[in-house]
Amino acid sequence: MTKPNVHAVHRDWDRQFPVIERAEGIYLYDRDGKRYIDGSGGSSVVTTIGHGIQEVSLAMAEQARQFSFYPAHAFTNQPFLDLSDLVVSLAPGELKDKSRVWVTCTGTDATDDAVRLARQYWVVSGKPSKYQIISRWQAFHGNTISVAGFSGITARRSIFQPMYVDSPHIPPAFCYRCPFEKAFPSCNLLCARSLETAVRQQNPDNVAAFISEPVVGAALACAPAPDGYFQIIREICNKYNILFIDDEVMTGWGRTGALWSIDHWDVTPDIIATAKGMTAGYTPLSAIIARDEIWSVLEKEHSPFKAGHTLNANPVSCAAAQVVIHYILDHKLPENSQERGEQFQVGLRRLMDRHPSLGDVRGKGLMVGFELVKVRATKEPFDPQEHASVLLERAALKRGLVTYPCTGSIEGVLGDMVLMAPPLVINPAEIDVILGILDESLSEVESALGVK
Ligand SMILES: Cc1ncc(COP(=O)(O)O)c(C=O)c1O
Repeated sequence: MTKPNVHAVHRDWDRQFPVIERAEGIYLYDRDGKRYIDGSGGSSVVTTIGHGIQEVSLAMAEQARQFSFYPAHAFTNQPFLDLSDLVVSLAPGELKDKSRVWVTCTGTDATDDAVRLARQYWVVSGKPSKYQIISRWQAFHGNTISVAGFSGITARRSIFQPMYVDSPHIPPAFCYRCPFEKAFPSCNLLCARSLETAVRQQNPDNVAAFISEPVVGAALACAPAPDGYFQIIREICNKYNILFIDDEVMTGWGRTGALWSIDHWDVTPDIIATAKGMTAGYTPLSAIIARDEIWSVLEKEHSPFKAGHTLNANPVSCAAAQVVIHYILDHKLPENSQERGEQFQVGLRRLMDRHPSLGDVRGKGLMVGFELVKVRATKEPFDPQEHASVLLERAALKRGLVTYPCTGSIEGVLGDMVLMAPPLVINPAEIDVILGILDESLSEVESALGVK
């Protein structure tokens, strides 16, 4: 019999978490032998290559056998050097072969370090007034006090609000519930143009960088920016001398059907934050990739990058990341993500005929989200007390499918959504199984909430 847990603190006080015992491919198995499809790719959007790939654990074991930690103030390590070369060779647009890589531990470290680099770059360049980070509402960039401050995910911000550094947020690029009440393309992309307004209001001399996710993950359940959005963002950043930070923590490494999600807009950012899919959850690792020109300014002025954690550039993690990246390329996972993502979205749209609570289906590649509504025609949300997305999550979990429930599509407060991001190795039959489970789970939730 399972010993009741008393000492470990979990994410929720009111539920019993099954204990995971092993994982293979797209499946997780708990201690009672129940099998689950890892439909959200972990919590969330992590497991690019799937679970249990031997090459990764062997590379990690081999590196750990040689050494797993080293004094980073005095030495470097070969896996870190090799990983940096590999990442720069795969970087998007003008960053390819013309950037440098800083390796750290979590996605939050990466976005924090990206804004540190932006700030240090401007100080060292002789423009110390540039410090502000403009971000967007309904965005998530990480979970430390500083990063949660420039994130725009209302529910996670609220308790810590008084502790944040004040920073401007612009409205999200979110066509289903357009903050400007317009429709694409006649909207003239006001969501992107609102960056210019914010920059002018703050005074460009004060603004260091703009940060955004090309496809918003946890805060909007896979909402991609419309076509043309990032081209306008890039122009505004160039015009006002502002760095563009691309948060690819969820979207990188093939997740959206391209190696980098910013590739869909054919724009080069100045700094990229990446994590999750880069080691597929086998071990913690994240990185920032920034233009040579940015690092060169620091180098020329002998100004070491003022960031860093004890476990940065960990050799075991760097060894794992290389195997994961090669696996992604060798198995053409961005292509599979594109094809299976299309199949998934088409299947979900078909379910709309049977499920009036399915208000919207969206995403790119295998980052697929849907929104649950009380009335489709008016997009009326469920009462938050009804916890519609959590009900859906529980109904699917019971049937062996992990989903990721999200809330806040309306002003960060109302609106239930579900994020799906299965491992990129998933096959067509497995997508159909997911669709079948979602079909049954939606029926259960609709009857519980009285949706007809
Ligand atoms: C877009 C984005 N940025 C940053 C983070 C923070 O990453 P981590 O949870 O590894 O700190 C997340 C986490 O979900 C994310 O989705």
